[in-house]
Amino acid sequence: MRPQPDFIHDFVSGTSSRALLLLHGTGGNEKDLIPLGRELDPNAALLSARGKVLENGMPRFFRRLAEGVFDLQDLKYRTNELADFVTSAAQHYGFATDQLVAVGYSNGANIAASMLLLRPQIMQEAILFRAMVPLIPETVPELSSGRVWIGAGDQDPIIPASETKRLAELLRRAGADVTMRFFNAGHGLTNDDVTAARDWLGQSCKGN
Ligand code: MLT
Repeated sequence: MRPQPDFIHDFVSGTSSRALLLLHGTGGNEKDLIPLGRELDPNAALLSARGKVLENGMPRFFRRLAEGVFDLQDLKYRTNELADFVTSAAQHYGFATDQLVAVGYSNGANIAASMLLLRPQIMQEAILFRAMVPLIPETVPELSSGRVWIGAGDQDPIIPASETKRLAELLRRAGADVTMRFFNAGHGLTNDDVTAARDWLGQSCKGN
């Protein structure tokens, strides 16, 4: 029996107690971030899901009305669905969610941020590459043991710096320890992002 609710996904077992939840960008799939996950942590288990929403044939994790304008009802529904999948996948594959770190890029980073805000029990650590504020939660979540790393591009045509700062502020207000980095980059990921995120992950007291 596969984890329920089901998502198309890849699972790669690890040799440490940490697991990375890998969430691709628009038009990606569950294979995309596996090499990145291995680069970030060669020992962690990797759970990589494919978004269920299709936009002109491109997988995404939730619907949007326009670029940067999200269908909030769908976003909430999809966030809970993904959180439930992660819970059942943890039981199925036998990894602990207290050492789970979400790693998302663009649309994947946005649903990871949404999970932190709406379902903080699922995970308290995240690496968010090119993320924006997905939604404003009705109640401030409890993220006082949370650690979040945000990587932004200072020439990103999709995400202005003010949006990155707004997200960092929202997560800090919930108690999270937020590291925000701006790189000489656009929306695409750079080696500098990956190196900095890997160093940040290596400083975590969990998962080693
Ligand atoms: C989103 O829709 O999540 C953001 O606009 C990023 C993107 O996927 O282009």
